[in-house]
Amino acid sequence: TLIPVILAGGKGERFWPVSRRQRPKQFLSLDGSGVSLLQGTAQRLLMLTGDWRQLWVITAAHLADGVRQQLPQLPESNLLVEPEGRDTAPAVAWATLEIAKRHGPTAMVGFFPADHWIDDDQRFCQTVTAAAALATEQDAIATLGIRPTYAATGYGYIEQGDAAGSYGSLEAYRVSRFTEKPDQATAADFIASGRFSWNSGMFIFPAQVMLQELKTHAPQLIQPLTDKGAAAYGELTKLSIDYAVMEKTERAYVMPVSFGWDDLGDWNAVERLLKQPDQVNVELATHVGLDTQGSILYSSDPSEVVVTIGLDDVVVVRDGNATLIVRKDRTQDIKKAVKQLGADD
Ligand code: GDD
Ligand code: MG
Repeated sequence: TLIPVILAGGKGERFWPVSRRQRPKQFLSLDGSGVSLLQGTAQRLLMLTGDWRQLWVITAAHLADGVRQQLPQLPESNLLVEPEGRDTAPAVAWATLEIAKRHGPTAMVGFFPADHWIDDDQRFCQTVTAAAALATEQDAIATLGIRPTYAATGYGYIEQGDAAGSYGSLEAYRVSRFTEKPDQATAADFIASGRFSWNSGMFIFPAQVMLQELKTHAPQLIQPLTDKGAAAYGELTKLSIDYAVMEKTERAYVMPVSFGWDDLGDWNAVERLLKQPDQVNVELATHVGLDTQGSILYSSDPSEVVVTIGLDDVVVVRDGNATLIVRKDRTQDIKKAVKQLGADD
């Protein structure tokens, strides 16, 4: 059986001011459903495990209480708390070490980001089960590939190599190359070649395979964690698993998936998900708009009124003591503003 681990230590700065240091994106319900991204991820994974006792979460210290509040059924022994976030490579390494201690080195482990939208939970579960079969059979790391739709620079790209059979009616391939977040021109070349998929950020493998690959490709990281556990964090540098292992390993496979997927990176993603063809704006606020089109309006307080006049393609976000007004094509720069403010706390 698979032991899923939710990676829940990220920031989500592009959703400031709704997303703050103590209340990052994964704790939010960006679609107004009341279910946060983290809770949605847990619910989906529970369909696989059927049981909270098999689900793990790894997060950073300042978010641990938030995770406990959002997932009260999660056993405390399955919550790994990093002293400080060091990106995903240390998180994957430490969680895999802990799971191997409890369940043995051949335990099948899956890592799942907490910031994704997935349209079909049933198909998601079938796919993950097939990917676990692939990882078992090949004794390797299975990735889930998303069919790319444009030359995005915020994703990893996976080049499909030789066919590696089918698992639960899904085809699998060797990964011949993995490139994390290429520049625009490279991304465009990848797309044109037709041989690449986007990396979904989900990884499934027998614990010992990842530990072996970390020993080979990131010894500076796995060695201190093996020796000292969480106490090693102070000496680790930030590194994502994509750079640390996925770009280097020769033991990766990819399974192209057919469920709908989106990385909820910024408000434009929320618009992609929520906007109906007949809607002029995406309104997650009490909004009065005159000559306002293509805009996204959000307020965490429905008793507030947001009025816009003569605006196209803007994002207006009201939360607590802060208001953000940004052109829709500049949402990448919110990170810069948050840095300058130092005010995401
Ligand atoms: N525990 C922990 N500690 N979790 C973390 C940390 C950390 O220090 N940093 C990030 N995470 C969590 C985030 O909350 C998120 O759920 C997940 O790890 C992925 O991190 P992101 O920072 O969102 O990664 P990304 O979106 O830039 O890139 C990854 O995902 C893409 C798909 O969404 C990569 O794997 C790309 O290759 C991939 O295409
Ligand atoms: Mg992400």
